[in-house]
Amino acid sequence: MLISIRDLIEKVLRKRKDEDASSTTPTPVEYESMAEVLRQGKAEFERKWQLKMSSSIRLSDMEICKTLGFGKFGRVILVRLLSRQNAYAATKVMNKRVILAHSTVECVIFEKKILQATSFPFLVRYYDHFKDNANLYLVLEYVPGGDMFTHLRRANRFDDASTRFYVAQITLSLEYLHHLGIVHRDLKPENLMVGVDGFLKIADFGLAKRIGVRGKTSTKCGTKVYMAPELLAMRRVYYSFDVDWWALGVMTYEMTVGRMPFEASHPMEMLYKINRRQIRYPAYMNENTVRLVHGLLEPNLKYRLVSTQQVKAHPYFQKTNWMQLYYKKVRPPFVPVVRSARDTNNFDPISDEPIEEWSEDVFAKEFEDF
Ligand SMILES: Nc1ncnc2c1ncn2[C@@H]1O[C@H](COP(=O)(O)OP(=O)(O)OP(=O)(O)O)[C@@H](O)[C@H]1O
Ligand SMILES: [Mg+2]
Repeated sequence: MLISIRDLIEKVLRKRKDEDASSTTPTPVEYESMAEVLRQGKAEFERKWQLKMSSSIRLSDMEICKTLGFGKFGRVILVRLLSRQNAYAATKVMNKRVILAHSTVECVIFEKKILQATSFPFLVRYYDHFKDNANLYLVLEYVPGGDMFTHLRRANRFDDASTRFYVAQITLSLEYLHHLGIVHRDLKPENLMVGVDGFLKIADFGLAKRIGVRGKTSTKCGTKVYMAPELLAMRRVYYSFDVDWWALGVMTYEMTVGRMPFEASHPMEMLYKINRRQIRYPAYMNENTVRLVHGLLEPNLKYRLVSTQQVKAHPYFQKTNWMQLYYKKVRPPFVPVVRSARDTNNFDPISDEPIEEWSEDVFAKEFEDF
């Protein structure tokens, strides 16, 4: 078959055009303000929240490497994803029977949906989910730097610049989550992971709930020493995002001082101290840190620092450039030693156990929405 010169030239030009089109990767949009980040973030979140994401993975698609930590309903394990060019991931295994005994199905559905729909530099990323007869599984980004609890325990306390670096990332993350109508309810160093780059990743959305921007809820949950007085009260109290700001106050104190702001041998004694704001501020604590902690740990909700604007504008953050932090253009106080994609040296050794398997799906109905 004869091809004319013209056809040949056209064919070559068309091929080049196709190649050019496929080689140009779109440049990511650079947002100029947090307002823009939040606007786009919310649109993206709403779109994903409506989607029913199907799962495309099973236990047999992964090689189990190591236990990373214990969870309320099981454990979190490092896995190698055989079907995805051998990438590594952290898989949270939650036993169905344990969930039903200690929590509600609603909680795990919220955890999955919130992880699926959120996307922020300082929140752990969702990859996939699946279930079998015995367990529910959340496949997440593996954060190899270990948890903040371990790092803080080793260092005893952090200097002002390091504390501010972490507290500022939690503040930005709370701004994002609260803007989406999500309250986290379990902020504590054990749930803050350190990324390979030294920046934070908030993990564990097991108590997070979407209550809506003006919403309230009354479920009493969380970890006692980080719980706001309205959560510790015996009577039923409707609360909102304020509880996360309280937890931020506890953590700011804990990172700066190396112990908890309200220490007591009995829960009633702790409540007494909380309600009277009996906090001892060591002399080395800088004035702005004391003011921030005191503002966040205000038992009276009318006076507590509870809006992102108020917190971000606080003199404690006068040196923080929020957009530079968002884009990770600041230097972290330390970068964890991570030797390979499967390095688990930053995690305390935990003995591994086989994952429970059941021959029958006795709780199929209860977990049909997962
Ligand atoms: N993405 C991850 N990468 C690395 N380690 C992780 C990851 N997610 C969780 N872990 C480890 O597993 C531990 C338990 O995970 P997680 O906090 O999500 O479980 P949980 O059931 O909600 O536990 P709890 O209620 O006790 O906080 C964490 O403290 C952390 O050490
Ligand atoms: Mg946890």
